[in-house]
Amino acid sequence: MTIEKEFIASTFPAQEGKASWSSPSNIALVKYWGKYGKQLPQNPSLSFTLANCATTTHLQFKPKEKDNQFSFSFLFEGKEQPSFHPKMEAFFDRIKSFCPYLFEHDLTISSTNSFPHSSGIASSASSMSALALSLLSIEEQGVGFASQEVFQQKASFLARLGSGSAARSIQGPMMSWGETKAIQGSSQEFATCIDQEIHPIFRTYQDTILIIDKGQKKVSSTLGHQLMENHPYATARFEQAHQHMTRLMAILAKGELDDFMQLVELEALTLHALMMASKPYFVLMQPNTLAVLNKIWDFREDTKLPLCFTLDAGANVHLLYPEKHKKAINTFIASDLASFCEAGQYIEDQVGTGAKKL
Ligand code: PMV
Repeated sequence: MTIEKEFIASTFPAQEGKASWSSPSNIALVKYWGKYGKQLPQNPSLSFTLANCATTTHLQFKPKEKDNQFSFSFLFEGKEQPSFHPKMEAFFDRIKSFCPYLFEHDLTISSTNSFPHSSGIASSASSMSALALSLLSIEEQGVGFASQEVFQQKASFLARLGSGSAARSIQGPMMSWGETKAIQGSSQEFATCIDQEIHPIFRTYQDTILIIDKGQKKVSSTLGHQLMENHPYATARFEQAHQHMTRLMAILAKGELDDFMQLVELEALTLHALMMASKPYFVLMQPNTLAVLNKIWDFREDTKLPLCFTLDAGANVHLLYPEKHKKAINTFIASDLASFCEAGQYIEDQVGTGAKKL
């Protein structure tokens, strides 16, 4: 593929240096569920970039001392984490032809998350994008990039090869990934920043994440995406996602909150419905997830305030609302929703501006 070729770095002499990046998590409004080939999406998706849930990665590199196999050392929260190595090795294997300089350097990587590791919040988007950006800093220091845009596209492209949704964790306030006629310049290979096209209300949108279940994900993303391969509703779902992208772009431009809430909740429930209707089937909501959804609908009916939810592939609930209603909604969360959270835990986040070089 031509675009892949453009991302192959030219060679340069190995050198010593370091780079640090903080990269955010993101929450999809139109969900990516189903992939093919090298982590390519079966349908386009669009997400809010978050501000507070982030991974910070420090990378040190120096010319390789011994000319043996590729190796790296990795610390997470200051400790060795051998369980993370297979995923990282698979990632390095996928990106090696685009970043051949990695094999001429010894790499020391250390990462921390701003959010608790055992909170049921997926960290693959923030961790893979922080790693991709840090690795690209080697290339930036070695040969540079034609433009900032090319740097960001390659960062998104590499992050995607680690975890699909990580492609959307590079810039803010929103990113879309996957070809769609709704977005000019959209690509299967990397995500595109959605910035000019949106109403100001969405730039400061709030996301309070209710931790309903701190446990490990019951269905890994890898298995989840596979479930779409022979799914009876796959074709209709992919078509629906394309229609939702077109509708969402119009909603985002106009700031139509009623339509926004309808579409976002429908996307979340569709993701879970697809899982309930796959072979094998899974129910990822917990009783407290459903209790919270009903509370949200009752609150919306009573107060007419624009509070809605979205869900990831798990039991936790993301509460989405405009900043101007923060006070009233935070009071409601503390009094009516916190009791449904494991250990009363929830995380306050909001739309952010993207990854930052430290
Ligand atoms: O990036 P992955 O392979 O972990 O897939 C994530 C898929 C969802 O989080 C469920 C939806 C999305 O678009 O982020």
